[in-house]
Amino acid sequence: MNLRQLFLQHVAQTSTAPLALEIVKAEGCTLYGAAGEEWLDLIGGISVANVGHRHPAVLEAVRTQLDAYLHVMVYGEFVQSPQVRYAEALAATLPETLGSVYFTNSGAEAVEGAMKLAKRVTGRTEIVAFEDSYHGSTQGALSIIGSEYWRNAYRPLLPGVHHARYNDLSALDRISTDTACVIAETVQAEAGVLPPSKEWLQALRARCTETGTLLILDEIQAGFGRTGTLWAFEAYGVVPDVLLLGKALGGGMPLGAFIASKEHMDHFADAPVLGHITTFGGHPVCCAAGLAAFEALRREELAAGAAAKGAHFEELLRDVPGARALHRCGLWLALRFESFEHCKAVIDRCIAAGVLTDWFLFASDCLRISPPLTISEEEIRRACTVIRAAAEA
Ligand SMILES: Cc1ncc(COP(=O)(O)O)c(C=O)c1O
Repeated sequence: MNLRQLFLQHVAQTSTAPLALEIVKAEGCTLYGAAGEEWLDLIGGISVANVGHRHPAVLEAVRTQLDAYLHVMVYGEFVQSPQVRYAEALAATLPETLGSVYFTNSGAEAVEGAMKLAKRVTGRTEIVAFEDSYHGSTQGALSIIGSEYWRNAYRPLLPGVHHARYNDLSALDRISTDTACVIAETVQAEAGVLPPSKEWLQALRARCTETGTLLILDEIQAGFGRTGTLWAFEAYGVVPDVLLLGKALGGGMPLGAFIASKEHMDHFADAPVLGHITTFGGHPVCCAAGLAAFEALRREELAAGAAAKGAHFEELLRDVPGARALHRCGLWLALRFESFEHCKAVIDRCIAAGVLTDWFLFASDCLRISPPLTISEEEIRRACTVIRAAAEA
């Protein structure tokens, strides 16, 4: 059997139609295939490769850490400098109330930890989440995602979860003094890049404060400059009680985090002790890679450049034949077609012509554009030429 056949036979499949591209190398914004193909990457591992694939500073940090130590102890026991330095660097860019970082292995684990923390801090159990929000695939995260299609087959799920309409003031009526936390994406990703109004997010914040409910903002996809500011919430004049990070956090290595005040986070240390634990969370190589990527992101001012690059995409994708709408937030776009079938046909033609793109989980009629923030103007022009030609075909 060749590698593709072995992949289909022995690697658990999550769909009946995987992309199944055989990748032999990735560099900057380009993926290289086994048969000599090249794809300009407009997916970026789903907003993971914000500093580009194999950023030299990330590789250097990984090599340095490999020479020091790999895993040495479960989370929270030893002082491991990559963890400490990264937590310190993240906290330095965040409001003072977001000063304590809990590193996990994935985004979904960050969601799980944050939901547990909300229970401990408030002594309550009810959760308000939103329609068309995605938060992960573990049982708890699955319970709060905003689509019955994906939830239903795995019932029973967490009790006490209420789904409200995103960016709709009716959501405020769902929040009461029984609500432990409200979990929202600062910008809805898989709904097709939908930013809320400032007024709505501020009203949500005010209602949480009024009822003693923790506001948890999920920036697992929206964080790290994707929306044009380092943290998406900065554009809204609100501060969450808990911030969720993942994806670009690890610079290409697996890493997630939930961040809260030290006062809140200290609940995990007592009654019961070890209230949230993980063997590999905050792995030293992942933290070293993540810190190097984070420093590169800031040094290269990639967040500031994201808005202009996104605007360039928007300009070049105006009036694409068959497209019905274009949503954008920073360097993050969704090009909406009339149906999944139409969108998928355009995506397939793009991939055949050397531009890698995809659709969104809750917006299958939208073509995804979330490239590394390092994408050049020439690459943007090339990508848009291919997308236009694919739509015209
Ligand atoms: C907004 C958001 N939250 C949470 C997650 C879950 O992250 P992970 O796949 O690392 O568990 C994702 C993953 O796509 C996401 O996009």
